[in-house]
Amino acid sequence: MSKTLFITGASTGIGAATARAAVASGWSVALMARSEDKLTALVDEIGDAALALPGDVTDLPQVEDAVAKAAAHFGGIDAAFANAGKGLDTPGTENGDPEEWRQLVDLNIMGLLYTARATLPELRKTKGHLLLTGSAAGRNHIKGSIYGATKWFVHGYGGNMSDEMRDWGGRCTVISPGMVDTPFFDTPKPDKIQPEDIADAVVFALNQNPRAELREIHVMPTG
Ligand SMILES: NC(=O)c1ccc[n+]([C@@H]2O[C@H](COP(=O)([O-])OP(=O)(O)OC[C@H]3O[C@@H](n4cnc5c(N)ncnc54)[C@H](OP(=O)(O)O)[C@@H]3O)[C@@H](O)[C@H]2O)c1
Repeated sequence: MSKTLFITGASTGIGAATARAAVASGWSVALMARSEDKLTALVDEIGDAALALPGDVTDLPQVEDAVAKAAAHFGGIDAAFANAGKGLDTPGTENGDPEEWRQLVDLNIMGLLYTARATLPELRKTKGHLLLTGSAAGRNHIKGSIYGATKWFVHGYGGNMSDEMRDWGGRCTVISPGMVDTPFFDTPKPDKIQPEDIADAVVFALNQNPRAELREIHVMPTG
């Protein structure tokens, strides 16, 4: 029986590409994002190995509900990819919008924590794998970047979770991309990393022998 990967931010970009790559590698995928139409189209494309679970990851009960449905449908969860995230329209501490910071923290930090909290009981059962989308902006300082600071949280939390999860045979991997050509940006970035490149890295981490934990995969564009 195939293993199951729960993905947040699965409607576009890195999450959608990872869904396709994981299924091509023999996994089943449970797909969470707010855009039901995009998730349904992706499931239509992928087939029975995929399940659409529309919902908002900044709302813990919605994440718990999606995880419960995924576990019931596929018989368990072997890996979770906390990938949903956003940037800021208005950068900077003096010029930025505190309400937009709240939405950023709710998604990039709280949504990621909610995904971990909701999936960890399932991952304990399977000695499973938690993957988190960090960023080059979460391992290098970028002047004044509040978005980058949310990704420093992801990298710090990921290392801490690696140390916790190894106690019971689990694994945690931070996926750390440089600029990727996705709807994250308003304009296309055709000369940068493609979402399929990051999807390949996620599947590589997933398919490692259980004795080996890739703690971070950092992928930068060559151009
Ligand atoms: N693109 C880059 O250069 C880059 C580089 C480093 C790291 N990253 C990170 O990579 C991750 C994926 O981004 P991407 O580049 O693939 O951009 P994207 O195409 O904009 O994907 C963002 C995903 O998050 C989902 N999402 C947003 N708010 C949500 C919410 N409240 N609840 C559930 N899902 C939500 C979106 O779907 P809905 O709108 O349908 O909810 C979408 O599926 C993010 O964490 C981002 O910070 C991106």
